[in-house]
Amino acid sequence: MKTRITEMFSIEHPIIQGGMHFVGFAEMAAAVSNAGGLGIITGLTQRTPEDLAREIARCRDMTDKPFGVNLTFLPSVSTPDYPGYIKAIIDGGVKAVETAGNNPAKWLPALKEAGIKVIHKCTSVRHSLKAEAIGCDAVSVDGFECGGHPGEDDVPNWILLPRAAEELNIPFVASGGVANGKQLVAALALGADGINMGTRFIATKEAPVHENVKQAILNASELDTRLVMRPLRNTERVLNNAAVERLLAKEKALGPNLKFEDIIEEVAGVYPKIMQEGTMEAGAWSCGMVVGLIHDIPTCKELIDNIMAEANAIIRTRLPGFL
Ligand SMILES: Cc1cc2nc3c(=O)[nH]c(=O)nc-3n(C[C@H](O)[C@H](O)[C@H](O)COP(=O)(O)O)c2cc1C
Repeated sequence: MKTRITEMFSIEHPIIQGGMHFVGFAEMAAAVSNAGGLGIITGLTQRTPEDLAREIARCRDMTDKPFGVNLTFLPSVSTPDYPGYIKAIIDGGVKAVETAGNNPAKWLPALKEAGIKVIHKCTSVRHSLKAEAIGCDAVSVDGFECGGHPGEDDVPNWILLPRAAEELNIPFVASGGVANGKQLVAALALGADGINMGTRFIATKEAPVHENVKQAILNASELDTRLVMRPLRNTERVLNNAAVERLLAKEKALGPNLKFEDIIEEVAGVYPKIMQEGTMEAGAWSCGMVVGLIHDIPTCKELIDNIMAEANAIIRTRLPGFL
């Protein structure tokens, strides 16, 4: 399949793996890229720019296909060394960067000068238009159903994608809630040039996370995610567990007086415990409603091949039959 996204990133299939904290290591990105998609290393999971440089080199050892790096600009306990990470990306010869969170304008000149294509993840049409105006090459439009940070507007993809298509000139991918070929075709019909998936890629053989995480995804339904940190205007969609219920009880009790310090135990530093040690009740971890559509743990190649085969069959067989 050829779209503006496959052309822009020199990939075979219009499928991107979104950056994921403590999931997006070299093994994950290389597996997706080897399967013909665009794998993404999560920049800030690497503690220092030197660590990121090593991770990029490790990924290059595992694939000769293009891959990218995610740089997230969200509120965090201490400000990361962004110039250092950008230098590691440029020096590492990476040609795709997924930015997320705050406006990436400050970092665009350096990235552009190095010939890097920037896809900015946005949860609204307003932010997507801003990304286009400042010179981003593409947008990842993240609907309300997504795992991670859906923003504060609560517009699901069924509305958000066609709205983005009405306004944008640069290509965009549909992000949030995607797991299969039916949804790829729907995304293309709604105006997208591809898809971005997070949660679905965690339940794959190569995802470098503890088996308990994959099992939790298989066991969950579309009713099992919760929105946390809404009172802090830093909403995150996570899989429900005991820590999340504790966190939500604190939010309810403290109301508008809630501060980040009140919930630090449930959200700060929990990713290594969950993703690497498999301690599933250790805290809140991002997870999308798409868990309801995830019933297996394929390899990344099987997953991507199945999505493309299903999409091709729908386009060639089912849709023409309606005409
Ligand atoms: C465990 C997990 C961690 C994530 N971490 C990040 C992150 O560090 N930076 C980022 O931009 N997006 C992050 N995301 C969001 C994904 O890149 C992607 O936009 C989202 O998962 C898409 O929704 P889906 O899970 O329904 O496919 C994360 C998602 C998950 C599930």
